[in-house]
Amino acid sequence: MTQRPIFLYALCGSQRQASTSRRLLQALQLACPDGVSIAICDLIGALPTFNPDDEGERTPPVVERFAAEIRKADGLIVSCPEYAHGIPGGFKNALDWLVSRDEVPFKPLMLAHASHRGDLVLAQLTEVLQTMSLHIVADAFLRLPIAGKSDEAQAAMLLEARENGLLSGGLSRFAQTIATSA
Ligand SMILES: Cc1cc2nc3c(=O)[nH]c(=O)nc-3n(C[C@H](O)[C@H](O)[C@H](O)COP(=O)(O)O)c2cc1C
Repeated sequence: MTQRPIFLYALCGSQRQASTSRRLLQALQLACPDGVSIAICDLIGALPTFNPDDEGERTPPVVERFAAEIRKADGLIVSCPEYAHGIPGGFKNALDWLVSRDEVPFKPLMLAHASHRGDLVLAQLTEVLQTMSLHIVADAFLRLPIAGKSDEAQAAMLLEARENGLLSGGLSRFAQTIATSA
């Protein structure tokens, strides 16, 4: 589909084992168009609380690993639930570690949302990520409201979204934007 392989790094805003946000990211992994691959970050829950005193030479190794994965990626996918009308603390903590570094500015980003609710967190994510100079590709936004559904209903919705091209379509638009802007 695209000229060169595109590597996407997916960040999940929920640490829950049965997270619907992560399930959506896993479904996107299976729906990748040719030439596109997705790795899901498993470091967010292991990051220490952000402290500007621990930047530079004192940066914790796990933060360096996280930042190195972000640097390698051609684009990021974020799937994040709403907690108390905002961004979950653990996820905001991960973003805070990236604010003063040089990995994220102008990095293309796709938002994938797993709930029919959560418009407040989508607005806050947009504000925060744009403040960090990430490039949110609006055209690639994808919403599949599996949150609150039974396991079977989630599986059926995800399968349908794979079969009707909803997932691959969003990824294709995202990959195309990356390919043409590189
Ligand atoms: C502490 C907490 C606060 C929440 N606050 C909100 C909220 O303000 N608005 C909302 O729509 N959902 C809220 N929810 C519901 C979650 O956004 C919803 O369950 C979401 O699907 C969880 O994502 P996950 O399945 O990826 O973990 C809250 C859930 C928790 C645990």
